[in-house]
Amino acid sequence: MTRSGKSPVISITSGKGGVGKTLIACNLATILAGQGRKILVADCDLGLANIDIMLGLRPRRNLKDVIYGDADIRDIVIPTKGGFDLIPASSGVREMAQLILERIDVIKAKIRSLRNYDLILLDTGAGISEVVLQFNLLADRNIVVINRELTSLTDAYAMIKTMYQVFDRDSLDIIVNSAAGEEEGREIFGRISSICKKFLNVRLTYLGHVLQDPVIPKSILKQEIAVLASPRSKIAANFAQIARALPLK
Ligand SMILES: Nc1ncnc2c1ncn2[C@@H]1O[C@H](COP(=O)(O)OP(=O)(O)O)[C@@H](O)[C@H]1O
Ligand SMILES: [Mg+2]
Repeated sequence: MTRSGKSPVISITSGKGGVGKTLIACNLATILAGQGRKILVADCDLGLANIDIMLGLRPRRNLKDVIYGDADIRDIVIPTKGGFDLIPASSGVREMAQLILERIDVIKAKIRSLRNYDLILLDTGAGISEVVLQFNLLADRNIVVINRELTSLTDAYAMIKTMYQVFDRDSLDIIVNSAAGEEEGREIFGRISSICKKFLNVRLTYLGHVLQDPVIPKSILKQEIAVLASPRSKIAANFAQIARALPLK
């Protein structure tokens, strides 16, 4: 998956919103950084950016200053308590998504120019808007996050179908979030996988599940990272397993 000399890029995306993309980006990045890898997370949920809030950070500058100001993309990268670097985006700017679309090629080129990372994770917005699709296209691989809700599956299918039919992506990765356990995770993956096999020529790889656990909303409320706050929890074991399943060096 590595483009020679460049940092590998993986997007974390979904059809439906609120399925846990940002939570997964932060916790997976923390686990990978804890294993000694140099990780960057880019907040690509433009307009509704919230990784900085999840981490209790108040970045002085963000992607907006790169696109419309004179900041270099390297200048806005900030370290986090998860041990990974973050590119923050601006929040609460409703027109941002539209503005970004006009400059999407510039942003993609700037992210691509960041070298020396073992992995760049893109935390995208939900849905099949052009901006989200473009960030998914920038990534070498796409992780689609789903949960047990029917709309999450149908919206994920719409995302996978679009990535396949419009951009020729025939291999994507799946994480099942808010599962009751390993068995339910596999069962939910089985559902999306069989629909994709039937109607699309797409290969889905199952990376694993994350339990539904009150540890998570609690950690978010305290602006902590669950795998750091509760390193011996089942959640931490889930993320360690997902990290092992990633095709990384
Ligand atoms: N595994 C989980 N267990 C319990 N609550 C969860 C879990 N995953 C996500 N949540 C809840 O769902 C909310 C939305 O998660 P978030 O990562 O912001 O979703 P997205 O980025 O996909 O919009 C979080 O605030 C959190 O409270
Ligand atoms: Mg999010």
